[in-house]
Parts: sequence; structure tokens; C-alpha cells
Amino acid sequence: MNRSIAILGAQWGDEGKGKIVDLLTKNCDAVVRFQGGHNAGHTLVVDNETTILHLIPSGILHKDVKCIIGNGVVLSLDALSEEINILKTNKINIEGRLLMSDNCPLILPVHIALDKARELKKGKAKIGTTGRGIGPAYEDKISRRGIRLGDISNSETLLEKIEELLDYHNYILKNYYKSDTFDALQMFDQLNNQYNSYKDYIIDVPNYIESLFSQNKRIVFEGAQGTLLDIDHGTYPFVTSSNTTVGGIFTGSGVSPKRLDYTLAIVKAYTTRVGSGPFMTELFDINGKLLSDRGHEYGATTGRQRRCGWLDLVALKRSIIINGYSGICLTKLDVLDEFETIKICIEYKNNKPIYKEYKGWKENISKVKKYDDLPENARKYIEDIQKYLDVPIDIISNGPGREQNIIVRKFF
Ligand code: GDP
Ligand code: IMO
Ligand code: MG
Repeated sequence: MNRSIAILGAQWGDEGKGKIVDLLTKNCDAVVRFQGGHNAGHTLVVDNETTILHLIPSGILHKDVKCIIGNGVVLSLDALSEEINILKTNKINIEGRLLMSDNCPLILPVHIALDKARELKKGKAKIGTTGRGIGPAYEDKISRRGIRLGDISNSETLLEKIEELLDYHNYILKNYYKSDTFDALQMFDQLNNQYNSYKDYIIDVPNYIESLFSQNKRIVFEGAQGTLLDIDHGTYPFVTSSNTTVGGIFTGSGVSPKRLDYTLAIVKAYTTRVGSGPFMTELFDINGKLLSDRGHEYGATTGRQRRCGWLDLVALKRSIIINGYSGICLTKLDVLDEFETIKICIEYKNNKPIYKEYKGWKENISKVKKYDDLPENARKYIEDIQKYLDVPIDIISNGPGREQNIIVRKFF
């Protein structure tokens, strides 16, 4: 049996990664986030209770699982506090379980202000970011002027670093965006206060992960966003600012590639996208509305309505080339229950999608537990996708609840 698996979004995010991470972590010891930040919104539904996680790994509801935030994650301590408070209110213990890398670049209020000011200035041409400061924080990391979690421990150099950072950004905020600037001393005090709450959570993540493996423990790597939002391989410039693809795991956590046993693609049975950018199979008709209504396609982070369309196998083929998935989890199949006809895009011609049509099954599948109990038309839909993509569909998710799954092949 595999000891480590990666769970990655294969499309434009919101494929249902959180639900599947929660499902599979019942058999594991640790979950690691390795990229993104609180732009993510991962929804877990357990006993009809919904938990939305942005920054904390989706293993937190299993009480013995360690939740690790790797160096590739851009960390907002404000967002982290907010999330921890919600979990504490719900009586979920995080002490000794939440662990993080001191190399995490910090998202500071100035990054959020820059993100919002830029989007405003771009007007109609905006990316449609989540406004969480993700892009500006990653830019500071790459430009080597960023402040990392571990930097807070050295108060002598911290103030200098903040002053240098703000000197640069305040100039742009004031003169280019004509907006408010930030005060270095205030930021210094705030970071020092926050650090006291979190300094005990800091660990050497690569060493810790390696020690788990050497004790035969099992680890899940939890992706955020999706392949088509990858900074290098996505629909640039309408992307996020991190590597959401498989390579991000290694750089963003410090685990070695030889430790990864299995990579699971989370594929929604149709397609959604939040924010701007190309979307070949987008629907503007009644079918798009039905997908949106039945799938409750509203962002878990910003509440924005998600754009909806048919499944795009051409885009998925690309996702497979880049990530080399071992298997697929097909999610939200139940959302298609009421459709007369379902379409799948199998190629692009003259920049237009060419579809293959399928007869719908018109039956409620949300309680089905075994593959063979699915209606014939649903099986045909699944088997055609599997044949075209040439990757085994190992799990089918047929509802938001933790228990609403059909395990086709056990791998973890
Ligand atoms: P993530 O960002 O990939 O974790 O996905 P989100 O949580 O943003 O969005 C997925 C949404 O679909 C959430 O509201 C989930 O509760 C819900 N969901 C997940 N799997 C299924 C499923 O198989 N069927 C249905 N109907 N809803 C699902
Ligand atoms: P999860 O992990 C869907 C999108 C934004 C925008 C683009 C850039 O829940 O799947 P950013 O704030 O990252 O600079 O925005 O990326 N985006 C997501 N879309 N799911 C997400 O996360 C997303 N995180 C960012 O809508 O188009
Ligand atoms: Mg989401």
C-alpha cells in the first residue's frame, strides 16, 4: 500500500480537494500544505456540519493527524489566527498538531493593499484575484526582500527589514495608486505580538517529514488551487502565483521526489472557474445555470459565483502530462443527475470545443456505494472519460458528505 499520496486539483481549483483530503487522512499521520495561502477554500462536510479551511491542512478534523504548513505556503498570521479561533470555537484542538516552517514568506497587510489596488487599477482587465495579497507576497519572496516567519525571532534585524520593505511599497502605494501607506513600527509590534502565539509551532519541516517516513508513517500532500492556475503551466496571466502542479510539492515542503508514491488528480465531473481568463467549455445557457445551482458553485473564500461549463478532456490531458497522475477521483458526479444530455469536450477545432454527447441517467446517485450500482449511463460517462484520459478513476465522489464516495480501487 502507498505510504504517501499527493492530492492535486486538476482543473481551475474547487474540484473538491478538501473533501478528499479529509476522507483519505483517516488512514494517515500527517497532512502537508506546500503552496498557496488563504486564497484556498477547502470545504469539509462531516455529519452535516460544514468546515471551510483556507490555510490549515484539511486533516485537522482527525484528532491524531499532524497538520503541517510547508515553506511554499505564503502565510498570513491574521488569517491563521482567525481560522484557529473558528476551530477552537468548534472544540477542535490544534495544540501540538499544527506545525509550520520558519521559511514561510509572510503575507502582510501591505500585500493585501497592493493586491486590491492593482486589481482596481486594472478595471475590466483584472485577474479576479481573491484579494488576499498572494501575488505581492510571492513577488517579495522571489525578489528576496520578503519577510519570513523565522525573521520575526530576530527583533534587531526585523525592524530594518520591515523598513526596507515598506520604503519600497509605500512609495508605489502613495505615488502610483494614490492610496494609504503603512507604518513600520506598527507592523513590527504586531508581528512580535503574533509571533509569541506561534513560535512553538515552528519546526524544521524537511527533517520532520523525513523522520515520519523513517518511522513508516503515512503522509498526504494537499494541493491548493489547480493545474490550470499554475504560475508556469496555467492560463497565464490569469493564474495564481504559485506552482500548483506536482513539482510544487518538492520545492514547497522539502520532501524528496523519491518519497512520493501516488498522485491523485481531483477532477470535477464538469468544469468551473472563478475569476477572469479563458474557459473553452463555459456555458451561458440553462445548462450552465443548472450546474451552478445543483453544484452550489459559489466560492468558498470570496463567495463569488463560479463560472460553469462542460468537462474539458483536452485541458485534462495537459494536466496529466504535467503531473503524471497515478489515479483520478471524479467529484460531484451527482450534480449531473438531472441532465437530459451531458457533453464532454474531446478536442478543439478553430479555437472552439468539439463535444461528444451522452445521455443523462436522470436518477439520484447520491446514496450509491458500489460502482456496479451506478446507472448504466453514468458508468458509460465514467468509462469513456477513463478510456480517453488513460488514467484509472479510483474514487467517485457522489455528494459533499465525508461518506458519499464510491471507492473503485483502494490505494491508501
Ligand atoms: P476545493 O477547493 O477543491 O477543496 O473545493 P471547494 O471546497 O472549494 O468546492 C467544492 C464544493 O463542492 C464544496 O462545497 C464541497 O462541499 C462540494 N463537494 C465536494 N464533493 C462533492 C460531490 O461529490 N458532490 C457534491 N454535490 N458536492 C461536492
Ligand atoms: P482552492 O484551493 C479557485 C483564482 C482566483 C483568480 C486567480 C488568482 O479552493 O481550489 P490569487 O488570489 O490566487 O492571486 O487569484 O486564482 N484562485 C482560485 N480559484 N480555487 C482556488 O483555491 C483559488 N485560489 C485562487 O479566483 O482567478
Ligand atoms: Mg476551493
